Amino acid sequence: MTVLSGKGALVTGGSRGIGRAVVERLAADGARVVFGYRHDAEAAEQVAKQTGAVAVRADQGSEEDLARLFATAEERLPGVDILVNNAAETGPALIADVTPELYERMFAVNTRAVFLAFQWAAGVMRDGGRIVNVSTLNTEMPAPATALYAATKAAIEQFAKVAARELGGRGITANNVLPGATDTAMLRSANPPEALEQAQGFTALRRLGRPEDVAAVVAFLAGPDGGWVTGQSIRATGGMIL
Ligand SMILES: NC(=O)c1ccc[n+]([C@@H]2O[C@H](COP(=O)([O-])OP(=O)(O)OC[C@H]3O[C@@H](n4cnc5c(N)ncnc54)[C@H](OP(=O)(O)O)[C@@H]3O)[C@@H](O)[C@H]2O)c1
Repeated sequence: MTVLSGKGALVTGGSRGIGRAVVERLAADGARVVFGYRHDAEAAEQVAKQTGAVAVRADQGSEEDLARLFATAEERLPGVDILVNNAAETGPALIADVTPELYERMFAVNTRAVFLAFQWAAGVMRDGGRIVNVSTLNTEMPAPATALYAATKAAIEQFAKVAARELGGRGITANNVLPGATDTAMLRSANPPEALEQAQGFTALRRLGRPEDVAAVVAFLAGPDGGWVTGQSIRATGGMIL
């Protein structure tokens, strides 16, 4: 018997990086997990095999795909108890360079998909459920070329705060985790090595985060010990800003 025995969790973006660490951690804590991914079927397969989770190929930008992801979660989980909104794209671009297409895509994937997940969860989640958004420290620490990305994340932080009020009567909590520089493919593709060294320099714990560091905070909020925390935005950064 482990802390999440009998619980069902949906995690978006579970094939790699932080989402993968979340799937691994929630499964290790005893939850049955369904997770979504975009195109890395090989990685998804590996995670599914290793954890017993169910992988669903679903682009966060497609309402049809999301409907399929939600239906699979309802079908394959013992109940919907945990929702982790993790999948996102970064689309780094200076404000002057953002195209209408990039704007639409970023808000579809990072924001609209999360809103649809909140709507779904509001309908199907069991009492005492947990919603955790993976946001970013960029909403509190603005940096060039992150306006669009951070704005899509600021919106989902607000969804969690309002959902905390709307769903609290059912014992459902909703929170945001704000990772700092965390060593994943997304971080390395969006930043040159010098930027990563600089980030470690002003991190109190003097290293990049690991996906498991962030997954541990998500697991706390998703588990019984996190039950008295709701509507909060928690930095998981090793102390990038204090
Ligand atoms: N790494 C950091 O330093 C950092 C810092 C702050 C916040 N974050 C946030 O943490 C979360 C995870 O980031 P990460 O660094 O772990 O990213 P990552 O290594 O690039 O992994 C992203 C995951 O999301 C999936 N995904 C991406 N776009 C998708 C889409 N349109 N539809 C469905 N799935 C999609 C990917 O699937 P495929 O494998 O199929 O592509 C993959 O499983 C994101 O919300 C990000 O904004 C990361």
